[in-house]
Amino acid sequence: MVSTASKPVVKTTTEETLLSPRFYTTDFDAIAKMDISSQEAELKAAIAEMKADYNRNHFVRDEEFEQSWDSIDEKTRRAFIDFLERSCTSEFSGFILFKELSRKLKGRNPILAEVFHLMARDEARHAGFINKAMSDFNISLDLGYLTKNRTYTFFKPEWVIYAVYLSEKIGYWRYILMYRHLQKNPEYQFYPLFKKFENWCQDENRHGDIFKALLRSQPSMWKGWKAKLWAKFFLLSVFATHALTVRERADFYEAVGLDAEEYDREVIRKTNETSARAFPLTLNVEHPQFFPRLDRCSKRNEKMKEIAQSSKLKPVKFLQKLSLIAATSFDLLYLYCLKSVDAEALRVTVR
Ligand SMILES: [Fe+2]
Ligand SMILES: [Fe+2]
Repeated sequence: MVSTASKPVVKTTTEETLLSPRFYTTDFDAIAKMDISSQEAELKAAIAEMKADYNRNHFVRDEEFEQSWDSIDEKTRRAFIDFLERSCTSEFSGFILFKELSRKLKGRNPILAEVFHLMARDEARHAGFINKAMSDFNISLDLGYLTKNRTYTFFKPEWVIYAVYLSEKIGYWRYILMYRHLQKNPEYQFYPLFKKFENWCQDENRHGDIFKALLRSQPSMWKGWKAKLWAKFFLLSVFATHALTVRERADFYEAVGLDAEEYDREVIRKTNETSARAFPLTLNVEHPQFFPRLDRCSKRNEKMKEIAQSSKLKPVKFLQKLSLIAATSFDLLYLYCLKSVDAEALRVTVR
């Protein structure tokens, strides 16, 4: 729904699909009772770093933003707005979760309450900054409306920790790789937001390290077969979602001079490598079947979108989609069953 009464156009809803950023809620009591003693020093150090607030003056719209963006062609503009909308929703969903955690944990778990309060501050800055960028293109998200009306997915605390760890680290790699690429190829830097990504991604990296500390504070999350199955599940889910969404938005990556496929692979490789510091295992992304199967899933995803937009009868669409869903499920299951890399063994070797 778009309200057109005032400028800029305020969007009160965003598309919710399997691949769109989710809003999470969790068992706050269980998190309040979590024993974080083994990682307390790490968490206190993170609090001190966030209080130092190195990015205090970073999210400021300098004079580079004060210009007209009318010269950006329609195709690029549409792809960029879509990128901004997805990024803003994702940053904002982090804010909502962290804010709620800090509120519910206040007086019960002071260290975690403070950690989440400071992370919520960062995510509010990120979401607000992107939303202001959207207003340069005459559109903005009604974040208050989204808070009240978006569907919230319940995740157990362990799932939140696995999922948010990965989303922070993949966010870090997405921002830094795009920043480095645009530093080398400034002709594609069509809007100054990208220049902010270097310091910005340090916030995401720090958030990821905080979730690493939470994960390592819970031995059940990295010891034993159950932990391994969950870790593998979250790695594959996050990487598959990334592969599908990046290919869906190939126009945007083309506009900034990136090859969507190469960028996606690099982000996945780097995030997988980083995850070895927190997760009990990582995926064997160098297996000859890994990326080709993900590519096939992406192509089927595109095909499903075409079918959904076609004028065919609903039952026909359903049957056409069914075979594609079955094939994608088989590919994902195949990838899930591939032998993973034992990160705990690597940890022992490194020490
Ligand atoms: Fe963020
Ligand atoms: Fe973050």
